[in-house]
Amino acid sequence: MRVSFELNGKPVEVEVEPRMHLADCLREELRLTGTHLGCEHGVCGACTVMIDGEAVRSCLVLAVQAEGSAVTTVEGLSTEESLTPLQTAFRKHHALQCGFCTPGMLITAHALLSEAPDADADRIRTALSGNLCRCTGYIPIVEAVLEARAAYRKKP
Ligand code: FES
Ligand code: FES
Repeated sequence: MRVSFELNGKPVEVEVEPRMHLADCLREELRLTGTHLGCEHGVCGACTVMIDGEAVRSCLVLAVQAEGSAVTTVEGLSTEESLTPLQTAFRKHHALQCGFCTPGMLITAHALLSEAPDADADRIRTALSGNLCRCTGYIPIVEAVLEARAAYRKKP
């Protein structure tokens, strides 16, 4: 089946099997491997992307369901020239070690702060509770997201 959607601000059209999930489509067909796959059944959050502004698990969405929508992956958060304030805060606070969970963490945090730039630590923890990390112990991740809030408050 042919599916068309916007990917990181650019239109894409791709041929997929009806059963292919969006994560495989992004990684295998569109060669954007920043979206990671861990559990492939909606538990780990590594595959999180944004569809029309909402953070979703791309292992639970069929590629054909993305038809006509705007998909943002971790590659779409920053330019090649610079990191975003959120990414900079992750680096500053050592909010990643192996980095496997990081794309999903960044997307979830970006979706949250875009909607709620004043989110407190409890809300951040709740939002990130669906993203599993085996390395950092979460405290640096929450600290990074707390620090990044200032940049989202400044956005128009
Ligand atoms: S790979 Fe999608 S939630 Fe784990
Ligand atoms: S940094 Fe390794 S799983 Fe999160």
